[in-house]
Amino acid sequence: MKGVILAGGLGTRLHPLTLITNKHLLPIYNKPMILYPLETLRQSGLKEIMIVCGKEHGGDFMNFLGSGKEYGVKFSFALQDGPGGIAEALGLAENFADKGKIAVILGDNLFEESFSEEVEKFKSQDGAKVFVKEVNDPGRFGVAEVKGDRIVSIEEKPHKPKSNYAVTGFYLYNFDVFNKIKRLKPSERGELEITDVHTMYIQEGNLSYAFIDSFWSDAGTFESLLTASNRAAERMKNSNP
Ligand code: TTP
Repeated sequence: MKGVILAGGLGTRLHPLTLITNKHLLPIYNKPMILYPLETLRQSGLKEIMIVCGKEHGGDFMNFLGSGKEYGVKFSFALQDGPGGIAEALGLAENFADKGKIAVILGDNLFEESFSEEVEKFKSQDGAKVFVKEVNDPGRFGVAEVKGDRIVSIEEKPHKPKSNYAVTGFYLYNFDVFNKIKRLKPSERGELEITDVHTMYIQEGNLSYAFIDSFWSDAGTFESLLTASNRAAERMKNSNP
């Protein structure tokens, strides 16, 4: 299976930090953000990795990451022309996926566990799988309603959440995800929404899930960026006392 890191978007919530550079190149403690999702994919056994980034910053990503040799992986790059949405960014990886299944991670999502077992399991499964985290404030996230081993609905930032299960930014898809993306229509905010892709899988009864027990956060706001940096510093101190 191949992996994709989605690192486009405008990062408007981090203005002015993101006016001249890309969110995923900002530091989280001692490393640019992109290295964290890269590490998650690597530890999950994914060695062929596509980075999708905004066209303004393609050169910076290539300069910084290189071929992948340094990380023991092989990089491909794709450029997104504008902030057309997470699903649009993923659609750019169709040729790269080469008819196979793919693992996808949002470039600003931080995990402290590897998905290697889930990736292995998914090789013999169909449909799509998302990873949910139990949170106290589900209304800030996409919220999954579950029945047995399936998700039956996902609501974006609901006022009355049907559960405490936030959908995180790591996903596993069969190749049909690209056909689904082609059928999407832009949402009210003019983006192709990944939640609409998930709803198509739900309609087929084909969206499964697993829980994340360890830490998960995004780093797309000043608050979460600072928390992520402090956490990375703490972890480093504990591993090098
Ligand atoms: P978001 O945080 O939803 O969007 P953003 O990064 O543009 O930030 P803001 O809302 O502050 O303007 O995106 C989550 C991840 O998805 C982000 O890490 C990058 C990726 N993404 C793309 O690759 N392409 C896109 O068009 C968008 C909107 C996001």
